[in-house]
Amino acid sequence: MTLRLYVPDDSAARSVGADRVAKALAEEAGKRGAEVEIVRNGSRGMFWLEPLVEVATDRGRIAFGPVKPADAPGLLEAILAGTSHPLALGLTEEISYLKRQQRLTFARIGVIEPLSLSDYQAHDGFQGLAKALAMQPAEIVEEVVASGLRGRGGAGFPTGIKWRTVAGLPSPQKYVVCNADEGDSGTFADRMVMEDDPYMLIEGMTIAGRAVGATKGVIYIRSEYPSAVERMRDAIRLAKAAGHMPDFDLDVRVGAGAYICGEETSLLESVEGKRGVVRAKPPIPAIKGLFGKPSVINNVLSFAAIPWILQHGGKAYADYGMGRSRGTMPLQLAGNLKHGGIFETAFGLTLREVVEDIGGGTISGRSVRAVQVGGPLGAYFPSRLLDTKLDYEAMLAVGGMLGHGGIVVFDDTVDMAAQARFAFAFCAAESCGKCTPCRIGSTRGVETIDKIRLGFERDKNIELVKDLCTVMTDGSLCALGGLTGLPVMSALEHFGEDFGPQPKAVAAE
Ligand SMILES: Cc1cc2nc3c(=O)[nH]c(=O)nc-3n(C[C@H](O)[C@H](O)[C@H](O)COP(=O)(O)O)c2cc1C
Ligand code: SF4
Repeated sequence: MTLRLYVPDDSAARSVGADRVAKALAEEAGKRGAEVEIVRNGSRGMFWLEPLVEVATDRGRIAFGPVKPADAPGLLEAILAGTSHPLALGLTEEISYLKRQQRLTFARIGVIEPLSLSDYQAHDGFQGLAKALAMQPAEIVEEVVASGLRGRGGAGFPTGIKWRTVAGLPSPQKYVVCNADEGDSGTFADRMVMEDDPYMLIEGMTIAGRAVGATKGVIYIRSEYPSAVERMRDAIRLAKAAGHMPDFDLDVRVGAGAYICGEETSLLESVEGKRGVVRAKPPIPAIKGLFGKPSVINNVLSFAAIPWILQHGGKAYADYGMGRSRGTMPLQLAGNLKHGGIFETAFGLTLREVVEDIGGGTISGRSVRAVQVGGPLGAYFPSRLLDTKLDYEAMLAVGGMLGHGGIVVFDDTVDMAAQARFAFAFCAAESCGKCTPCRIGSTRGVETIDKIRLGFERDKNIELVKDLCTVMTDGSLCALGGLTGLPVMSALEHFGEDFGPQPKAVAAE
């Protein structure tokens, strides 16, 4: 019987040698004349175990990892002989990191072969679309409203309400736009969806098109994701040819590396072939979006949640989560953490559970000092706030935001004044330049923090930084300038002791 091995074809796994492992396993199988099929699946999202090799057995898949090319001979030998191996991790589904998750969006990821339509269909693929095709467009919208789904790109706006606005506008041309710019530090969930389960995104966008009356869609992908670009283009071609995108066309556009092009109006400018500069709102894109037409713009994860919602019903989705944060969130664990990766769960866990228990604490073995949630514009949490729940409202209540679900951990060696400086510097580098508080304020912020770090008029300059943050928060046109105060002020508030003269380097004698 043919032995089936799974080796991920996901960028994260490939970056640590998955291609070389697949090649080494194929060569070893060839040498032994063993009948081995190597399937390139997606990643299970347990990055510290990548490259994770799985073998199909009667009991389910058994995992081994992290596997190096040099492990291939011994590993194959053990698998063929049915003997134990030091890298064996047992049944994949029983690995506690995976078992503890509630995977709705990521249910297929790491399981299926990304471009196989038959694999997708064998794992519930296109079930949501089939339901949607039997419904009236307005019923689809109301199902999404009932799910309580809120935009997973950062702002958390209710997806169904956005769709209702676009659906209600009479226009011969409307668009569905997917924001796959994924610029936040420590985030990779969009990339995994596109590389590892591309038909899910296509299905979600096709359903959106039917719901709002749009026949055209665009996926805007950052240029740093070449594999996702290629995978999405292939998947669109195959899905279209097989008739899975009725009355709907999709195109992929590639960004050019600007963080601001993740902001929805800049993104639209960029898709239209112009420089990525923020548009003043109103009008909101739902009313006047791509090429001036009503447009639904959603994040990859928002569209990716749609097939499940349509298949199982909005209420079933809303049964997960708490308060006004319904459903599940694919959290992205990164930074100085033992167990980095994807962890999809219903809203409601605390930051401490995620960082200490699920993430296993720091990889350096030192204590956790700060956790940044929500990307480069998110607040820094000190350890005393780690019991905050990871949902939209609870984060807001302590001056933070959940954003796209990125969680970046720092140990006690972090210099928080340097992190505050970085927030200003990041804003200065990425500002579109349209409004003064952001364009000028961010640069003045860098200079003022430098003065504080040199011990120059510390108290006066700290007051100046606070003032600057208030002006940027209140006077910026978009959230890039508007949120830069969040990381800066949280660093000042919780880690004020770092904002002083730096110890001078002592010259060796
Ligand atoms: C500076 C800036 C960068 C942003 N980057 C992204 C991004 O990379 N991906 C994303 O989905 N949303 C991003 N957003 C949020 C979008 O403007 C918008 O809210 C989102 O695409 C709406 O989709 P959603 O409702 O599904 O979240 C960004 C916003 C700002 C202000
Ligand atoms: S806040 Fe910054 S990025 Fe946003 S519109 Fe103003 S200048 Fe552009």
